[in-house]
Amino acid sequence: MGTAILGTGAYLPERVVTNQDLEKIVDTSDEWIQTRTGISTRRIGGQGDETYRLAARAAEKALQMAEVSAYEIDLIIVATISSHMLMPSCACFVQKELGAGRAFAFDINAACSGFVYALDLADKYIQADPNKKILVIGAETLSSRTNWDDRNTCILFGDGAGAVVLGHVEGNRGVIGAKLFSDGNLWRLLHMHTAASCNPELVQSESPGAHIVMEGREVFKYAVKAMEEAIILLLDQEQVALDAIKLVIPHQANIRILNKLVERLGIRAEKVFINVQKYGNTSAASIPIALDEANRDSRMQPGDIVLLCSFGGGFTWGATLIRW
Ligand code: UT7
Repeated sequence: MGTAILGTGAYLPERVVTNQDLEKIVDTSDEWIQTRTGISTRRIGGQGDETYRLAARAAEKALQMAEVSAYEIDLIIVATISSHMLMPSCACFVQKELGAGRAFAFDINAACSGFVYALDLADKYIQADPNKKILVIGAETLSSRTNWDDRNTCILFGDGAGAVVLGHVEGNRGVIGAKLFSDGNLWRLLHMHTAASCNPELVQSESPGAHIVMEGREVFKYAVKAMEEAIILLLDQEQVALDAIKLVIPHQANIRILNKLVERLGIRAEKVFINVQKYGNTSAASIPIALDEANRDSRMQPGDIVLLCSFGGGFTWGATLIRW
């Protein structure tokens, strides 16, 4: 009937950085970080933890669960904003790392919404050709894009990767639908310039550098409203009742955003999967990491309706419904 998730996987770098560790480098406190964000620890990569390597480790686990070999994969899509190189894509490095010799591979940039965008794209490929097997990965090493002197942002982000293997299945399973949005007018509120231009004609005078820059309070306001609207529109589009949702796996941005969203929608808190306390905000990787954790904890049973939702730089946002 549809595009189903055949396997999930995640990989997190070993190094755990606590709020107490951050107290030593910026003017902050464990108490402030926990109350404002819900984050206690995050994983930060080191040598050998380039984004594609985290992505490939997560993909290997997803392939193993799906009992699909790398050679059977037709397409690899990596959602990322922190590849170690601009060209080639992170996805091409993942293809090489996995030995996925038949796959074509590319990245998409939709910041924290990258995974839901990529999932939608993969669903469309599989609808067009049910024989396709696709790897969708969200992977980030935002530690390489963080201004470690900026207490507004450096406490939020973490590194990691999550992956799913997608394929066509018969029966009443799979992606039900998605609703995706962007608004480039609001780019300034959350952005990251790349390195300086080599063409003096194209120098961006407003460029503050290669780090993430964020107006946190403004982003917060938009995030809650936008995700709420996307979810309501998606439920209406697919004629699914809010009560029918068994589990919500949101982008793990901040516990307060998630609590507010849940309160406005009237969803019971126990239906919402949260692991932001352990990994912080891992951008495009956060949903597939959470999905894998929920899956391995048997939080979803066959037939359960699962809701994914996200918000990120662009602005980009959206929601996806899946029948597990
Ligand atoms: O992934 C999707 C995109 N990103 C997000 O979803 C993030 C959305 N935004 C947020 O999560 C929140 O806005 C933050 C957690 C980033 C900040 O929380 P806030 O409650 O909005 O705080 P604020 O930025 O309004 O700052 C309040 C105060 C300020 O001090 P003053 O001006 O009131 O004296 C900040 O300078 O807290 C100060 N502050 C800090 N204090 C201690 C900011 N960062 C820190 C810090 N430690 N790390």
